[in-house]
Amino acid sequence: MAALRVTVQKLLQARSAVSPLLAVPALSRACHHGHHFEYINVSKAGEKQNVGMIELNRPKALNALCDGLMGEVKTALEDFEADKEVGCIVLTGSGQKAFAAGADIKEMSIRKFQEVFGGNFLSNWSHLADTTKPVIAAVNGYALGGGCEIAMMCDIIYASEKARFGQPEIALGTIPGAGGTQRLTRAVGKSLAMEMVLTGLPITAQEAQQAGLVSKVFPPDQLVSEAIKAAEKIASHSKLVVAMAKEAVNASQEMTLREGVHFEKRLFHASFATNDRKEGMAAFVEKRKAEFTDS
Ligand code: CAA
Repeated sequence: MAALRVTVQKLLQARSAVSPLLAVPALSRACHHGHHFEYINVSKAGEKQNVGMIELNRPKALNALCDGLMGEVKTALEDFEADKEVGCIVLTGSGQKAFAAGADIKEMSIRKFQEVFGGNFLSNWSHLADTTKPVIAAVNGYALGGGCEIAMMCDIIYASEKARFGQPEIALGTIPGAGGTQRLTRAVGKSLAMEMVLTGLPITAQEAQQAGLVSKVFPPDQLVSEAIKAAEKIASHSKLVVAMAKEAVNASQEMTLREGVHFEKRLFHASFATNDRKEGMAAFVEKRKAEFTDS
C-alpha cells in the first residue's frame, strides 16, 4: 500500500512538473471528469445520475470563496454543461455551518486598486449566472457577502432552517461586488436590500423566504435530498425546453414587460420546432409518459 502511495505521489509530481494547472499537491483531492479538485467535491446524484453536485469544501474557512475555489467551480460547471446526462446542478456547502462566508477576506486584504480594477477582480464569478443548465443553491448555513451573491446567481434557492443571508461588506469598508446590490434588490425589494447592505446585518432563512429570496426552507438534514429531488424533476424534462424556460424567466430581470412578453412568445413559438414539444403534447393526448430526447 505504501509503495502504491509513493508511486501515485511520483506520478502526481511528474504531472505537476508538466503543467502548473495540473498541480496536485494532496492525494486527498477529489477527482471528477479527469479534473482534480482541492476546494470542492464534485459528483453526480439522482436515480438516473442526471444531477450534477458541487459541494464547496473549505470548512475550516467556512467555505470562503478564494480564487482557487471559484476557478474549480467554473471548471465543474463547464464539465456539467458539456455532460449530456446532466439536466440540473445543485450547489451546496460542506458541513452544517456555512454555504459560503463570502469572498476570502485574507486573500483580498492585500489587494490594491490597480490590481482589482486592472484585473477586473470577481469578473470570472459571473460564470455561475451564465450557466445554461438550471442551478439550485442548497444553502445550508451562512451565505454572507459573496456567498449570498453566488446563491443569488443560481436559479432557485432552497435553504436550511439554519441558513443566514447577509451582505456584511459595509463592515469591511467596502460594498458587495458580485451582484449583491442588484440581485438582492430585485429579489427582496429596495427597503430590505438597503437595510441589509447598509447595516450589514443578516436575515434568517424564514425572513429570506418571506421576502421571496428563498423558495423553500427545510430541516438541515433534508435540505440536500430535497434539492436533488427538485433537480431530478427538472432533469426529467426536455433539456432544450428547460433552457428556453430558464432564459425566458431570466429575461424578466433585464427587459421591460412588453419586451419580455414578446421574447417569451417567440421562445414559445420556437418550442414548436422541437421534437420534444411534439412528444410532450402527443404523450398527453395518448395518456402516456413523455419520452423526451432533448431534440
Ligand atoms: N474569508 C476568509 N476567511 C474566513 C471568512 C472569509 N470571508 N469567513 C470566515 N473565515 C475564517 C475565519 O477567519 C476563521 O479562520 P481561522 O480559524 O483561521 O481564524 C474561520 O473561517 C472560522 O471563522 P470564525 O472563527 O470567524 O467563525 P465564527 O463562527 O466566530 O463566525 C462568521 C462566523 C460570522 C461567518 C464570521 O466568520 C464572519 O463574519 N466571516 C466574514 C463574513 C464576511 O464579512 N463576508 C463578506 C466577505 S467580502 C465579500 O464577499 C465581497 C464580495 O462582495 C464578493
